[in-house]
Amino acid sequence: MRMRKKRHLEPRMEACADLLLARGKPCKNLKEAAENYRFLLDYSAIFGNDNPVELEVGSGNGGFLLQKAAREQDKNFLAVELCTNVILTAMERTMAAGLNNVRFLNIPAEILECYIPPHSIGKIYLNFSTPLPEKSREKQRLTSARFLKIYDLLLKNGGKIEQKTDSFEFFAYSLNRYEEAGFSLTEITHDLHNSPYAEENIVTEYEANFSAKGLPIYRVVAVKRADEIQN
Ligand SMILES: C[S@@+](CC[C@H](N)C(=O)[O-])C[C@H]1O[C@@H](n2cnc3c(N)ncnc32)[C@H](O)[C@@H]1O
Repeated sequence: MRMRKKRHLEPRMEACADLLLARGKPCKNLKEAAENYRFLLDYSAIFGNDNPVELEVGSGNGGFLLQKAAREQDKNFLAVELCTNVILTAMERTMAAGLNNVRFLNIPAEILECYIPPHSIGKIYLNFSTPLPEKSREKQRLTSARFLKIYDLLLKNGGKIEQKTDSFEFFAYSLNRYEEAGFSLTEITHDLHNSPYAEENIVTEYEANFSAKGLPIYRVVAVKRADEIQN
């Protein structure tokens, strides 16, 4: 079902322009865009400091990142979200909270490399990415080999991907993909809320819904190995 456009979407997006670093696609074909277009972000100019930068892919209404950014003001955060309706909510919430360390990209994650400088990100958060169980949509899963290649390029050596999901099948699929892509796996839990990692955990909007239904939450940290040479 298609989501109805938010009321006054465009003027509201315009009011958030200072927070929005990119919107849409540079051309129709995502593969061509990823290969040929570069609008690399200058973090010092954007944030006015050289603090470490972390990225959430598929950030939805921004509940996770807003709490994270308020808690860790010595870091900068980027939120990537495909859906304009939901990123608008996240940006309006960020403005209301007066946070200066969060910026947004309203683009498909498939073209992240057009904007994010290589090896510039310390951590990537994948919170409750849609599992897309249909075989035909495997490539669109945010932990498919295609996306891990992109994350690998963006992450610093030793950089991490933190993933949470309610889907056991998607979790198992993702663990296999991380291992195939050469990431080391740590902090694996099949019941996050009853694990040693629960205390630090920030509960996202989707997580609250799933856990209210009694579903366990799966979590893993995949670490990029520090043994390759970076240019
Ligand atoms: C299930 S929601 C989870 C939202 C939020 N992370 C949470 O935990 O509450 C998944 C989000 O990922 C976004 N998304 C899915 N595929 C994407 C892609 N290729 N690029 C950017 N965002 C994407 C969707 O628009 C949606 O808002």
